[in-house]
Amino acid sequence: MVLASSLLAGKVALITGGAAGIGRATARLFATHGAAVAIVDVSPERGPEVVRQIQAEGGRAVFLRCDVADAVQAEATVESAVAQLGGLHILFNNAGITCRRSVVETPVADWDRVVAVNLRGVFLMSKFAIPHLARAGGGTIVNTGSGWGLKGGKDAAVYCATKGAVVNLTRAMALDHAAQHIRVNCICPGDTDTALLAEEGRQLGVEAGAFLREAAARPMQRVGTPEEIAEAVLFLASDQSSFVTGTTLVVDGGGLAG
Ligand SMILES: NC(=O)c1ccc[n+]([C@@H]2O[C@H](COP(=O)([O-])OP(=O)(O)OC[C@H]3O[C@@H](n4cnc5c(N)ncnc54)[C@H](O)[C@@H]3O)[C@@H](O)[C@H]2O)c1
Repeated sequence: MVLASSLLAGKVALITGGAAGIGRATARLFATHGAAVAIVDVSPERGPEVVRQIQAEGGRAVFLRCDVADAVQAEATVESAVAQLGGLHILFNNAGITCRRSVVETPVADWDRVVAVNLRGVFLMSKFAIPHLARAGGGTIVNTGSGWGLKGGKDAAVYCATKGAVVNLTRAMALDHAAQHIRVNCICPGDTDTALLAEEGRQLGVEAGAFLREAAARPMQRVGTPEEIAEAVLFLASDQSSFVTGTTLVVDGGGLAG
């Protein structure tokens, strides 16, 4: 592999939701900067495919199938990543799902599932990973929030609730673990061209092209790419942001600027 840099050389990164979208782009980017990567995802098809792509480029990666909402699986997955890759230095809590409904329209089971994946998953993976980061002398955690963790969005009640919680959980974790040299930050993407965005259009019953045009209505007049979000995650995960903790980085083409 031709390394883009040695920014993450010798580091092991665990990426949840690493089989697609923002997680996949970040896994590939981290590998090109020298990290060994554990791709953690529920998808048994797309996860191994990302590993093959990284290995074909000369990088080091493993796939670990895991539902981040399940405490037993979360703990076993962290332990397996550490055992297979020789430690843990970076945790990217990125797995997420959406539900485009108001409170009244949201089925109780959907509320519980979105909270379980988007919020409990961040808690569980962090709970089991932090002792390993501390043992390594420190590390970084990046949580994926959303622009809708900072402002409300229509017909997205549980999604907004979980992403707002992730933003403040980030601050709480940053306070608790700063003395262990663990920095914790949050990335808040705006609409980004992934399967999740397409799923939102489907749930709302809006034609895909029309939904994408609506999502692009922001100062930069387009949605983001997963690769653009990954570059910002790299900043927060690496020593380039060595004095940054407890903060939120918005990457949204100016969507929240006005
Ligand atoms: N795409 C956007 O417009 C956008 C905007 C803001 C925030 N986000 C956030 O970015 C993150 C990544 O989303 P994306 O857009 O890349 O979506 P995506 O659907 O392309 O990827 C999400 C990945 O998470 C995995 N996943 C889902 N549930 C899981 C679980 N229980 N355990 C483990 N893995 C699971 C999926 O299999 C998938 O591979 C999410 O947290 C999402 O809320 C996305």
